[in-house]
Amino acid sequence: MSDLMEKKGRSSFGSKFGFIMAAVGSAVGLGNIWRFPYIAGTYGGGLFLLLYIAIVAILGFSMLTLEFTIGRHKNANVLDAFAVGKKKRSYIGWLCILIPFLIVSYYNVIGGWIIKYLTIFVTGGDFGSAGYEGTFGEFTSDPVASGVFTVIFLALCIIVLIFGVQKGIEKVSKIMMPALFVMLVFMAVVSLTMPGAIEGLKFMFVPNFESIAENGGFLQMLSAATGQAFYSLSVGMGIAVTYGSYLKKDQSIPQNALSVCGLDTMVAIFSGLAVLPAIFSVGITPSAGPGLVFISFPAVFEALGGFGIVVGVIFFLLVLFAAWTSAISLLEVLISALEEKTKLSRKGATLVVAAVITVTSILVAISMQPEGLFGVNLLDLFDSLTTYVMLPLTGLLMCFFLVKVIGMKNAKEELLLNCKSQKLGKVWEVAIKYVVPVLIAFILVMGILTWTKVI
Ligand code: PHE
Repeated sequence: MSDLMEKKGRSSFGSKFGFIMAAVGSAVGLGNIWRFPYIAGTYGGGLFLLLYIAIVAILGFSMLTLEFTIGRHKNANVLDAFAVGKKKRSYIGWLCILIPFLIVSYYNVIGGWIIKYLTIFVTGGDFGSAGYEGTFGEFTSDPVASGVFTVIFLALCIIVLIFGVQKGIEKVSKIMMPALFVMLVFMAVVSLTMPGAIEGLKFMFVPNFESIAENGGFLQMLSAATGQAFYSLSVGMGIAVTYGSYLKKDQSIPQNALSVCGLDTMVAIFSGLAVLPAIFSVGITPSAGPGLVFISFPAVFEALGGFGIVVGVIFFLLVLFAAWTSAISLLEVLISALEEKTKLSRKGATLVVAAVITVTSILVAISMQPEGLFGVNLLDLFDSLTTYVMLPLTGLLMCFFLVKVIGMKNAKEELLLNCKSQKLGKVWEVAIKYVVPVLIAFILVMGILTWTKVI
């Protein structure tokens, strides 16, 4: 394969802005909104923020550039990009199929919940006698109701994906991401002007040594920061390889990656401003995950009176945009591989992926009943297995792949194409060869230990 030329007929992003918005769309997701603020407050407040920014700069930026580099260098889907040897075996490629497959199967279900809540607020925000917790519990454990909304969410993704990279993903990302930023700023203003907002700010921003000690000490904090950076930037599963394969050669990989890291972190911090002051203002203990968005937040909207319904609509629309663009990126990995490995057209590949994922998503929705599916809650299983074990493992293998198979010289050449700071190459080499693998090996070990505890 000629590595310096783009393959004829392969899709690409049309503009730098479009590429960045699509990559940010993948990165900005539920992790920013429902995970980051809580983790930051729990593991040291301001101290966590400093550590997190350092980790994003070292690990996040390196991993993102590494994946973009592999993707653009190979100019192929994940299966072809990671093929090695005469037999073209692609172990890493298959991991990059399996992980998005598992994640998107439960992401769709959560996407369905978001649409359901959006409809609740659009129609007046009435939770009836069941209350917030009861409504959420009843809805999520009813496989028919949640299954219907899951399929609606998946259909929204498919409608975009069927139009391909430029006319689908790029076009909607260019609208949805700026809209998301505006809504987030609005939410932050609302939240910061609620009475007692300052407590939320203190929780997130004031350096707090005690909370680190109480929550397992520095190693636990480091593990939380590295894990969050990995998940938040959507690295370690081939999304950035796939998007990178659509990046034109006249673009600078480091510059684009820097924008993505910066914007994703900014959204995470703004999410803290939007979430924590409001939660503290109504006297709720901060938490992470579905409970925060679907149970605690409706109480915030109630406290805001009539205006709360409007804020509720905006909030769930924001969360929907965040989840939508992330799910699109997960599905794109599967679609591009299927399209290029078979004779299917873009449309055909999209529909086949949609059909398979409909089945797996519905299984996940069914498993949300109290008794699970054969006793297992698939959402928790897929989420914990991918986050704690599979993402770091794949990230580590990608580092080895770059060094051993592509080679540092080729990789640096690709990385530095049209990049203004050529000196970056040396630092990058040290990062990819030594610093990043050590950090990832650390989160992998911590992750395996945690995973065996949670399942
Ligand atoms: N990065 C997304 C977030 O922060 C999560 C995600 C992970 C999205 C994996 C796609 C793939 O929520």
